[in-house]
Amino acid sequence: MSIKLGNIELCHGVMLAPMAGVTDRSFRRLCHECGSEYSVSEMVSAKALCYEQQGKRRESSVMGSAPLASVTRAEGPMAVQIFGKEPSFMAEAAKMIEASSYRGCTSEVAPVAIDINMGCPMRKITGNGEGSALMKTPKLAGEICEAVVRAVSLPVTVKIRAGWDSESVNAAEVARILEASGASMICVHARTREQLYSPGIELGVIEAVKRAVKIPVVGNGDISSADDAVNMINRTGCDGVMIGRGAMGNPWIFSEIAARLEGRRFDRPSVSERIDTAVSQLESVIAHKGERVGLAEGKKHMAWYLSGIRGAASARNAIMTAHTKDEIYGILSEIKNENADGEGTE
Ligand SMILES: Cc1cc2nc3c(=O)[nH]c(=O)nc-3n(C[C@H](O)[C@H](O)[C@H](O)COP(=O)(O)O)c2cc1C
Repeated sequence: MSIKLGNIELCHGVMLAPMAGVTDRSFRRLCHECGSEYSVSEMVSAKALCYEQQGKRRESSVMGSAPLASVTRAEGPMAVQIFGKEPSFMAEAAKMIEASSYRGCTSEVAPVAIDINMGCPMRKITGNGEGSALMKTPKLAGEICEAVVRAVSLPVTVKIRAGWDSESVNAAEVARILEASGASMICVHARTREQLYSPGIELGVIEAVKRAVKIPVVGNGDISSADDAVNMINRTGCDGVMIGRGAMGNPWIFSEIAARLEGRRFDRPSVSERIDTAVSQLESVIAHKGERVGLAEGKKHMAWYLSGIRGAASARNAIMTAHTKDEIYGILSEIKNENADGEGTE
């Protein structure tokens, strides 16, 4: 299993999924260090990026669109994901992202691809005809893809859902249109918009997309172990797998999957390694976003890292009400000592 995308080649196609509010620069870098071969940025509004850069909206801040679209080398190969429904704004935003020169924010390098979001289920996005609502308008989906492909020389990829609802599962049809519109890779989240994130995915949808197109197909949904990844690959024939929630507090899932695909042994990190990684992620997010925002966003990651560790429940509560990073470091150090005898489990 390998994927060629523009100038890069992904050995196993094991990737980190985009998750707004979760997969920020610090987390993408960490996942890359733990074996993720490729990642996709948190979604960026094409229109907001265009307006901000044209000075029609407030200057970019750490929460603005340009910082979301900026890329650093340490994150490894990544795509920047845009959402929107107007082909002209999508094309304009893609051009800016390819040039990677933003007002009020620096980007070390250009991304390796532009990704288009056709999967977001949030009402404020779909109500506008954007995200997964584009699964209901395949012709417009194709026009958007074509406009972006024409605007940039980078490969253009698209992340879709199975369809809008159980009555309209059309991922294979939409994938064919996107391929004809110039898309270089398709990622399928095998749930309809109606299903949101409820457990249970439809592997047959990924298989149908794989049969429908010649470009690489990446399967996504409910992978939380190497077993899940191998099952998806074997049952669908997909060229790569994208992991979202399964990487929360477990960035080692990428090396676990790579080890399985290469027939190597994988050693789970000890409690002590897990806590050290949590601390380094918190330091990185604070360095990037400042203590106030970094703490607010970092706390949920800290709670995920504690999953399955003895004493996690009370430590989680203490972390959530902590006011400073030193308080959090203290709580993490305590739980590390409590579990020093080995692999503590709840
Ligand atoms: C908190 C959260 C934020 C997400 N944000 C995005 C996003 O910005 N763009 C996108 O295409 N998908 C987004 N997704 C969907 C994920 O990329 C992925 O398709 C979904 O979680 C299913 O994969 P999983 O079961 O491995 O988590 C998000 C999911 C979650 C849980």
